[in-house]
Amino acid sequence: LMTAAAAALVVTGATGAQAACDEGELVIKFSHVTNTDRHPKGIAATLLAERVNAEMDGKACMEVFPNSTLYNDDQVLEAMLQGDVQLAAPSLSKFEQFTKQFRIFDLPFMFKNIEAVDGFQNSDTGQKMKESMTRRGLLGLAFWHNGMKQMSANKPLVDPGDAEGLKFRVQNSEVLKAQMAALGGSPQPMAFSEVYGALQTGVVDGQENTWSNIYGQKFFEVQDGITETNHGVIDYLVVTNVDWWEGLDADVRDQLATIIAEVTETRNAESFKVNQEAKQAIIDAGGTVRELTPEQRAAWVDTMKPVWDEFVKDVGQDNIDAAQAINN
Ligand code: LMR
Repeated sequence: LMTAAAAALVVTGATGAQAACDEGELVIKFSHVTNTDRHPKGIAATLLAERVNAEMDGKACMEVFPNSTLYNDDQVLEAMLQGDVQLAAPSLSKFEQFTKQFRIFDLPFMFKNIEAVDGFQNSDTGQKMKESMTRRGLLGLAFWHNGMKQMSANKPLVDPGDAEGLKFRVQNSEVLKAQMAALGGSPQPMAFSEVYGALQTGVVDGQENTWSNIYGQKFFEVQDGITETNHGVIDYLVVTNVDWWEGLDADVRDQLATIIAEVTETRNAESFKVNQEAKQAIIDAGGTVRELTPEQRAAWVDTMKPVWDEFVKDVGQDNIDAAQAINN
């Protein structure tokens, strides 16, 4: 027989925290869309909750709702503005309705690796971006890394021409739609939780994502293979409601901010490794991974990079220059 507490966990899908909420504690709900293990965001969110529940016991408690069990990324920011959820970490592509500044992170081949992304985010320009949506009610607290994106489809992708005519699931971002159009593909915006089914049933032919997402959602099972393009990045903004944040007691806010900063530093340092482990797990499970020669990869760069021209006005040439300087 299941206890009532266990049943509640099953119903809500919450991990690591419900039992930790005592009467009188500030309840902090953290909603996200990925799996919890072998995933940079999943691991970071769990660690954050563990630390809050241990170190802020009596003052605050955190409940994490992973796997889109509470909200998907289209819903979560609205729910946050309504006060129904306090923390989330949507990918930077999901802030399309709130700011155009984050479009720089979606531009293909803008950053050569996750260290370059880290360097840009930690520059003055990057740090200011966390506050770019305060007038719309959202405040960024930290950037969390996932990693570089790879391409997959129901047929081998080696030359960019292989993508022509295919339907690709994209996050709901104008840059990503333009990128797939540049390949001659047809972009299909879709919530993360629906992608596996759409690939399986042939609603879409392919998708782009990090190793940890391709592993966590088992996309490799319903694709011909994954091509190691490292053509873009999926990173996250840990975000909160400005009014909620500013309404917290100063000591609670400071302690929470410190824990978030420490978890960010610890887990961002491991994100590359977590993705490499997910890549290996895909191979071990029988998934096909294709590497590109430098010449083949250059052809993908030539096809996709012209997309930058459409978005220079949104992201600023100076920011592009700064990002490129970090690459070198
Ligand atoms: C996606 O929608 O593909 C990703 O942003 C999901 C995630 O949170 O990593």
